[in-house]
Amino acid sequence: MNYLAPSILAADFARLGEQIREADSAGAQYIHIDVMDGMFVPSISLGMPVISAVRPLTKRVFDVHLMIRQPERYIDEFAACGADILTIHAEACVHLDRTLDAIRAKGMKAGLALCPSTPLSVLDYLWDKVDMVLLMTVNPGFGGQKYIPAMTEKIAALRAMIRERGLDIDIEVDGGINDGTIRTVLEAGANVLVAGSAVFGKDVTERVHTYLDIMKEYGEIG
Ligand code: DX5
Ligand code: ZN
Repeated sequence: MNYLAPSILAADFARLGEQIREADSAGAQYIHIDVMDGMFVPSISLGMPVISAVRPLTKRVFDVHLMIRQPERYIDEFAACGADILTIHAEACVHLDRTLDAIRAKGMKAGLALCPSTPLSVLDYLWDKVDMVLLMTVNPGFGGQKYIPAMTEKIAALRAMIRERGLDIDIEVDGGINDGTIRTVLEAGANVLVAGSAVFGKDVTERVHTYLDIMKEYGEIG
């Protein structure tokens, strides 16, 4: 199943609610929310109060991407403010096994994000703990960067590993997804597509429709 996850990092924050509602009405299944701490990544974005404030505006899945060090400190808080999928970075957390369990214990789906240079072998003893793997296709921290071409092979390798093991794990790609790269990542096997600058700051409805139409060519949409 394919899902589109517009990243609100590129939204007009003065009209955040309106922008989320527009992405929802256009058919985007997920709302991708990037939380940055100024430590794991250079930038600081938004946190729990903003997520809580927009939670009542939509029933869509809140796909929360934590780019923060020691994310285990905040699992309960993100559950409480309405995250449906909580994704932590392999590079930012020493106790991945325990933290992924803690995310599921709070009733959320557990996601594991990997920076471009992090090998897939980090998943070796975690296959049964993850619902989604987020492959960063740019270095995390900022929107509007260029897709790293070497990531196409990584997506395909991960899809093959999931298939070989007969697992049902989503592959989310994040960074530089736009008209020029969307087909590449879908062909490689990604099924959850984050798009920030390619959706917001433009005609959101038109962009969401266009991407959902392309995604339909590669499989059912969620
Ligand atoms: C970057 C964030 C992304 C960002 C993507 O660190 O994780 O979700 O919003 O932005 P675009 O789609 O503009 O590359
Ligand atoms: Zn993200």
